[in-house]
Amino acid sequence: MATRASRKVEAQDLHLDPRTITIDPLTPVIGAEIGGIDLSKPIAPEQEAELRAAQAAYHVLVFRDQVITNEDHKRFARMWGTRLHVHPYHVARALPEHARGGGHNEHDPEILVVKADQKSRFVAGEEWHTDVSCDVEPPMGSMLYITETPEIGGGDTLFISAVRAYEALSPMMQDIVGRMTAVHDGAKPYVGGYGQTPPEGGWPKTTHPMVITIPWSGKKALYVNRGFVTRIPELARKESDAFLELLYGHIEGHVEFQCRVRWKPNTLVFWDNWSTQHHAVWDYYPYSRYGQRVSIVNGRPAA
Ligand code: SIN
Repeated sequence: MATRASRKVEAQDLHLDPRTITIDPLTPVIGAEIGGIDLSKPIAPEQEAELRAAQAAYHVLVFRDQVITNEDHKRFARMWGTRLHVHPYHVARALPEHARGGGHNEHDPEILVVKADQKSRFVAGEEWHTDVSCDVEPPMGSMLYITETPEIGGGDTLFISAVRAYEALSPMMQDIVGRMTAVHDGAKPYVGGYGQTPPEGGWPKTTHPMVITIPWSGKKALYVNRGFVTRIPELARKESDAFLELLYGHIEGHVEFQCRVRWKPNTLVFWDNWSTQHHAVWDYYPYSRYGQRVSIVNGRPAA
């Protein structure tokens, strides 16, 4: 049962009053549709400030009816970090495209193709996760630009606020998780998701704090996800497995921390990877869905 304090709405703390954009919340807790902006053009400083406030408040920003090039996509992404992310897929080049729900744009390692069709055996992100949390510097955010949606509908993406997930824990549990770390292993999606042995030596494995402080909001978030985490090193194996299941049940089971994005062609969604987790729904086989993702690196998550 959520406590009174844990129901407090994050966005209300920020007193958003934008002049150059519109903000239409998907829920009071997470997700907002942003209007009045054309991502094919450079963003002016005032608009950038308003976007940053909206991102800190809602974590998942949805931009509709955008007609953009790869360069526009990357220019908008660069605004949020120190460099664009190159996925370990690109380095490993280890799986055929249909086996891993997309792959790299051969001409541009900073663009990840996310696609599914009648040949797909796997779809990217069909598990609660934060993107590539196995990296030493995991992306702080990702921008997925979808240009083709399934004819029969479906293919939504679910998001959950990891900030609210942390805040809803009891003080005792917050104290316990605040003293733990978690091992994020890139081999996990290989074995569990693709049914393959990971490439020798080429896949990152990093230990991150279980509770991180989000630099752009000052909030704490629970940074542990089913997609990548294999172990809490401070616990015995069985304790670790049981404790992780307890946390995943807490994170994934609270529908009041979630929002659901319904895609239309030419929608770009920018999500904060450190403050959220997401899950791509594959309910449209054998129909097709196509998009391109650019992810942003901005340092390493810290306690
Ligand atoms: C992902 O980046 O995890 C894929 C999300 C999606 O396809 O909706």
